[in-house]
Amino acid sequence: MSASSVAIRRTGIAIRPKLTAKTYSTAYHEAHKKSLDCREEFWAEAAEDLTWFKKWNKVIDHTNPPFTKWFLGGEINHCYNAVDRHVEKGRGSQPAIIHDSPVTKSVSKMTYSELLDQVSRLAGVLSKLGVKKGDRVMIYMPMIPQAIISMMATVRLGGIHVVVFGGFAGKELSVRINSCKPKVIICANYGIEPTRLVSYKPMVDQAIEMAEHKPLKTIVFQRPNLDPVTLNNNTDVDWNEQISSARPHDCVPVESNHPMYLLYTSGTTGLPKAAVRPTAGHSVVLNWSMQNIYGVKPGEIFWTAADIGWAVGHSYACHGPLLHCNTTVIYEGKPVGTPDASSFFRIINDHKVSCLFTAPTALRVIKREDPKATASSKYDMSSLRTLFVAGEHCDIDTAQWAMKAFKSPVLDHWWQTETGHPITASCVGLGNSLEPPSGSTGVPVPGWDVQVVDEDGVPVEPGQLGNIVVRLPLNLGTFQTIWEDDDSYVDTYFKKYPGYYDTMDAGVKDEKGYVSVMSRTDDVINVAGHRLSCGHIEEAICSHKDVVEAAVVAKDDEIKGSTPFAYIILKPGCSVEKNQIFQEIVQLVRQQIGPVAAFKEGIFVNRLPKTRSGKTPRKTLESLVNKKPYKVSPTIEDETVYPELEQLLKNEMMES
Ligand code: COA
Ligand code: AMP
Repeated sequence: MSASSVAIRRTGIAIRPKLTAKTYSTAYHEAHKKSLDCREEFWAEAAEDLTWFKKWNKVIDHTNPPFTKWFLGGEINHCYNAVDRHVEKGRGSQPAIIHDSPVTKSVSKMTYSELLDQVSRLAGVLSKLGVKKGDRVMIYMPMIPQAIISMMATVRLGGIHVVVFGGFAGKELSVRINSCKPKVIICANYGIEPTRLVSYKPMVDQAIEMAEHKPLKTIVFQRPNLDPVTLNNNTDVDWNEQISSARPHDCVPVESNHPMYLLYTSGTTGLPKAAVRPTAGHSVVLNWSMQNIYGVKPGEIFWTAADIGWAVGHSYACHGPLLHCNTTVIYEGKPVGTPDASSFFRIINDHKVSCLFTAPTALRVIKREDPKATASSKYDMSSLRTLFVAGEHCDIDTAQWAMKAFKSPVLDHWWQTETGHPITASCVGLGNSLEPPSGSTGVPVPGWDVQVVDEDGVPVEPGQLGNIVVRLPLNLGTFQTIWEDDDSYVDTYFKKYPGYYDTMDAGVKDEKGYVSVMSRTDDVINVAGHRLSCGHIEEAICSHKDVVEAAVVAKDDEIKGSTPFAYIILKPGCSVEKNQIFQEIVQLVRQQIGPVAAFKEGIFVNRLPKTRSGKTPRKTLESLVNKKPYKVSPTIEDETVYPELEQLLKNEMMES
């Protein structure tokens, strides 16, 4: 595949190099250059902002690429830097967390001192249950402060937190339990979705039942004003009971490259893989990014409207803002429907938010309900300086609408679970333009040497579409491997372009260095900013007894960007009514992956196109369902299948 043939999922992206004198600030330019030319000096300076138990003796070791180690010989504790440090410096009375929960009709605040008390007590509970440095603690919770407390308590002990998004089903949990073998699971009794209670505890029980590995204990947080669930005396402990009598536990220093957390994400294969996040590099870069990318000062209110189950929520609802002594808003609600499309504006007004970070999907859904943004005029938006978006492509209409509605610059930036912080952005703190070219995600963040290359790894001309790669060494704080699978780390990300990290995103870099991200080059789809593997959904579909084969592709969706669409082949002679089978398949996907997959549409077909090597050309099938022009590859065995599929798509779409 040549660079120009890289599939573009989105159309209408105007790459308009609208450059002004202020586009490239000297501060940014110098910082970026220094970060690549004098890496050690640049990041050592940033590392000085944190408190170390033992100072490092070498900033970077890249002698065994792609494995890179940072701050060798250093000892640090992330929780100390994110919590204790601020209390010791006299900021204990500042709110650390504002929990705004329209689904429980409540708003509460927790100061840094209160957070320290809760975190050190929960660390005491975990320690009593046997959790030690390096042990995994799985966290399956809604957007409540206790989720943040659990993450911090785990790293306080040198444990490794593994947060699983609440929208994943029990089977997904069990796969993760078997993979990371947690010593303890922490869950809440319920999550609250606008239309229903989500019973977390039975899902945890079901997952443990299915898994081979059995955690020692499950800590259950029983939410106030909801019926407590019955606990099993042998396996469960009650959060509230334990915390009230717990002895606070101190921070345990860990070596700089000790894993701080695992976060499962989707790739081409059906099995989720866990990105391993190193402690020191991640803490240093997140702390640095709060000032230099997002341009906020300690004490200001930072709101990331993303679930802590995703990388965005990890880095910027929890770890980044707390490291930098900001107040983080934990929002337990939706952009619309809790109770209406004014929630985002209300929260900015009520809590005086300085910087909002959300996914374009959230903006699109508010725009659909309130196209004139009438709600925004009822609230004071003056505190908001910037609105950052990421997770999926932000269309220009939505960005322009949001700029007016939120009365703030809208800055698209690009990153991945693997990187844990942005690869490209408008670095506000370094003076980058607040009006980057429409459709771009900004410029490479310091530490990132971003190139766009063709299939042979040769750089393409500015403005040409290609594969986005990053020259090694990878920046600090990015994933250091895949959990217990160094081979797949190397093979998946570093083999195709020797000396580079393959981002698996296709895009364009213009002559000034602005990067626009178009589509994934692998079989990952992005549903409402959530990354899902086509192969994984196909596996769930194929577990239906009447299904022979399935191909899942991304269908364009006005709100969610895309949703999964399945081409399904049934067993010959299957006599059950097709609609019934389709509804059963939809249920299977919900049970096996979770409602978050948002799988609702597909079609039954008699055959699928195949290349001579037996592969299904998903990109072509995607063009077909999106009614876009498609090209039949010369390696396709029988191209007569395409008109047949087109005909079926016109007449026989199935929906749930
Ligand atoms: N626990 C349990 N179930 C959850 C869940 C959670 N934490 N989050 C979502 N779900 C369920 C929903 O209830 C829904 O179930 P349903 O099919 O029974 O209705 C399903 O998963 C899909 O949810 P969602 O993706 O939230 O879609 P939606 O149609 O309910 O809402 C939006 C649409 C746009 C409001 C929503 O997708 C949204 O807020 N997106 C923001 C995206 C985002 O934050 N991305 C993070 C990466 S930056
Ligand atoms: P995740 O790992 O879930 O954060 O998803 C990462 C993927 O989301 C990236 O590889 C991109 O495909 C997509 N993505 C993230 N941010 C952007 C953005 N600003 N523009 C376009 N795509 C994005």
